[in-house]
Amino acid sequence: MICLTLMENSIEENLKVLNKNRYFINMVELRLDMLHDPLLVSPDRVKSEFSISTIITYRKKSDGGKYEGSEEDRRSVLYNYSKAEFDYIDLELETSFPEIEKITIGNGTRIIRSYHNFAGIPDNFESIIRQLSTRPGDIAKAAVYPQNSSDTLKMYEVFEKVKDIKDKIILGMGNYGLSSRILYKKLGSMLSYCSNPENSGAPGHISPGEMVNLYRANEITFLTSVYGIIGNPVMHSRSPQIHNKAYLNARLDAVYIPFPVDNLSMFLKLATLLGVKGFSVTVPYKVEIINFLRLKSPELDSINSCNTVLREGLVWKGFNTDLNGFLKPLLSHIDISSIKKCAVIGAGGAARAIISALKSIGMDVSIFNRSQENGRNLALETDCSFYPLDRQDLLVEYNLIVQTTSVGMFPDENETPLPGYKFRKGQIAYDIIYTPLKTRFLKEAEEGGAATIGGLEMLTTQGIEQFEIFTNQPFPLVEQKENF
Ligand code: ATR
Repeated sequence: MICLTLMENSIEENLKVLNKNRYFINMVELRLDMLHDPLLVSPDRVKSEFSISTIITYRKKSDGGKYEGSEEDRRSVLYNYSKAEFDYIDLELETSFPEIEKITIGNGTRIIRSYHNFAGIPDNFESIIRQLSTRPGDIAKAAVYPQNSSDTLKMYEVFEKVKDIKDKIILGMGNYGLSSRILYKKLGSMLSYCSNPENSGAPGHISPGEMVNLYRANEITFLTSVYGIIGNPVMHSRSPQIHNKAYLNARLDAVYIPFPVDNLSMFLKLATLLGVKGFSVTVPYKVEIINFLRLKSPELDSINSCNTVLREGLVWKGFNTDLNGFLKPLLSHIDISSIKKCAVIGAGGAARAIISALKSIGMDVSIFNRSQENGRNLALETDCSFYPLDRQDLLVEYNLIVQTTSVGMFPDENETPLPGYKFRKGQIAYDIIYTPLKTRFLKEAEEGGAATIGGLEMLTTQGIEQFEIFTNQPFPLVEQKENF
């Protein structure tokens, strides 16, 4: 079930949010601690106006809520609500309100016995979850906040151990925990919480629309194939949109999730535990991941950069779809014979893959980079010439200028690696950034009369090839326009 956490300060505002999302959700959680004055609200009115299965929660500040009053006042408000026969009431592990428990036995309200830890994963996490489910009929709810890849692995290892507990809600908060919210059914969790993005209920909540339309969380089962993207940062990635929509169009039982990673070997252990079948790789792991591959597709021999990893039996196999992702849009827009000299701005992993691609079609390439050391090293390695980035005067001789740095990417949209440079007609400016779709680099190129290619085309082209590697099926191209 998808549960919408209602965080507004009045019942009227909560109703608006609820009505906007009714289509996506199965139930709501009313956070009494967010209301202006929960004493003025009639539980019966809430029940009849919401008219949906509801969890009543009155969260204290120490448990991540807003309530700072006395336990006695909290008890008396919850007591009133417990008499109104809501489906669920959330009581924290340390909360002892025997009279409320007694009422719930009589009226069928179920207690969600909750535990929250915003600092990480405690060593006794498994025993805490078991403690939450000691009282017959209670639903154990455990929410922890993994801070890194090692915490995420530790959290999932505990989730694996509590498989035998039937009635439970287990989840990880924050970006590292997002996968557990999406995969809640695989974990045997009764529900997954989400909230209105303008007033988020907890770290890592996504909107009901994303949960249902993007990730189809309600349709995930033990059999659903899990794919994803790893990187740091990674939450801004558009790849989940491309892949999940394609799974839907190709009628595949699969889901694609962003996994933030700060330690590759921990993530690979997690991927094995979760049965991840393949993943995309982005900054900063495209080179480091190669150390973990047992099999490699031939293009990896010439490009020391891997953006696609597939599970083959017990090992991981690497591919690079950036190469075609970069070249196909270029070749489809431009008569390649018109290009005499190419300039690549930047000397990082993306520049390395792009230089390989340009060399593979016989181009003469020069690197322009801020750091002379990085630029020279890559130039030496790839047999290119090198110029410092401030030698913009030289760019006049180049037909193709490819921007491979992160300069100009959201939220720094006003930046460009070539401030003051005047593009000219006959030049082609290719920026691999896709947020924003039109970078300052591309805008200035357009103003100067140059032709432009944006990063979205590269993203979608490499994603299509990646989809085919992951699923061994052709990409459902019919719907392509709609996808992106
Ligand atoms: P990726 O692997 O995605 O290419 P990277 O390895 O961090 O990312 O490479 C980033 C590139 O962007 C580098 O060439 C970097 O220049 P330096 O070698 O001088 O560090 C370039 N870059 C990053 N920020 C920049 C800035 N503000 N101005 C100019 N170049 C920049």
